[in-house]
Amino acid sequence: MAALLKSIHFGLAIIFAIAVCFSNFGHGLDAQTVIDSPLLTQKIGTNRTIKVDINGNGDFKSIQAAIDSVPVGNNRWVIIHIRKGIYREKVHIPANKPYIFMRGNGKGRTAIVWSQSSSDNVESATFKVESPHFIAFGISIKNEAPTGVAYTSQNQSVAAFVAADRVAFYHCGFYSTHNTLFDYKGRHYYHNCYIQGSIDFIFGRGRSVFHGCEIFVISDKRVTIHGSVTAQNRESANENSGFVFVKSKVYGIGGVYLGRAKGAYSRVIFAKTYLSKTIVPEGWTNWSYAGHTQNLYQAEYKCHGPGSDPKDRASWSKQLTDEEAAPFLSIDFIDGKEWLPAWL
Ligand SMILES: *[C@@H]1O[C@H](CO)[C@@H](O)[C@H](O)[C@H]1NC(C)=O
Ligand SMILES: *[C@@H]1O[C@H](CO)[C@@H](O)[C@H](O)[C@H]1NC(C)=O
Ligand SMILES: *[C@@H]1O[C@H](CO)[C@@H](O)[C@H](O)[C@H]1NC(C)=O
Repeated sequence: MAALLKSIHFGLAIIFAIAVCFSNFGHGLDAQTVIDSPLLTQKIGTNRTIKVDINGNGDFKSIQAAIDSVPVGNNRWVIIHIRKGIYREKVHIPANKPYIFMRGNGKGRTAIVWSQSSSDNVESATFKVESPHFIAFGISIKNEAPTGVAYTSQNQSVAAFVAADRVAFYHCGFYSTHNTLFDYKGRHYYHNCYIQGSIDFIFGRGRSVFHGCEIFVISDKRVTIHGSVTAQNRESANENSGFVFVKSKVYGIGGVYLGRAKGAYSRVIFAKTYLSKTIVPEGWTNWSYAGHTQNLYQAEYKCHGPGSDPKDRASWSKQLTDEEAAPFLSIDFIDGKEWLPAWL
């Protein structure tokens, strides 16, 4: 009986979730339907699947071995289905292997885990993607190394290094402390992902949309400075990069800034996002940045929650008008209609 009630409850939750999704129509970011693994698989329309199973019931026991089996110069989608399990290995998708769709069994069931701390971000990364046309679904990526201010180490521990154009993650989790997600370069889409960290944990010079993501701030022994959710690195007005968070949620433990200026044109927008009390009243910081603040684009648009009050925000930060926000609220910011499978 309890199980039945539970499943009814779960069913209602799904109906509610679907209703919420459909009510978002016309917003420009939401695809025509709920994006899940069967939909992505159907859109990709390939008959090539490589199975990875840690227990030996697939084609490979290691993810990297499966990637190594994809031919150099691959030009048709190939699905690498990673069955449930914790895969303790580093994974690298090299630049010459595009069109890989890495499909896990859900972010609570399929995980890639490594533990490495390094003075070099890229070297520390558990997962690296350097080829364009890459998709991941339902996988957690973790770097378990104990780094960050709390551990007095200046070293970094990147979970994922995303260094190629046209890369999308759906329902994935990114776990580390310091410098979790190195969104290095290219156009990226993060859909319903979970990203956890303490300091500068989403950083780089990517042009990226984070839609419906959960950003969780973990505590750290910060004394004089606060950590920051983002450190977007944009050096000039010609550089078309920036991080846009839409309909997401930022919450956690301790106090953080939404962003820290990195580069004179650093661009980060939080739109229609829930900001908990974990966001400090100033919101944004120029800590360790020596230049002018006049070209920084650190902005919010229609955010809500106790951390969204604009009253004490840093003087150079912006609260956008509808018109100013429009270019960032559509998937066109990353030319998504040209390459995101759910739109094709
Ligand atoms: C898979 O698809 C390709 C291209 O559509 C086709 O040429 C090939 O025959 C198919 N292979 C199988 C085993 O169905
Ligand atoms: C910090 O990084 C260096 C160089 O990459 C490495 O040799 C060292 O072991 C790391 N320290 C810690 C505490 O992980
Ligand atoms: C940096 O931020 C502080 C605090 O908001 C402010 O007083 C200072 O003028 C800023 N620096 C520049 C160069 O604008």
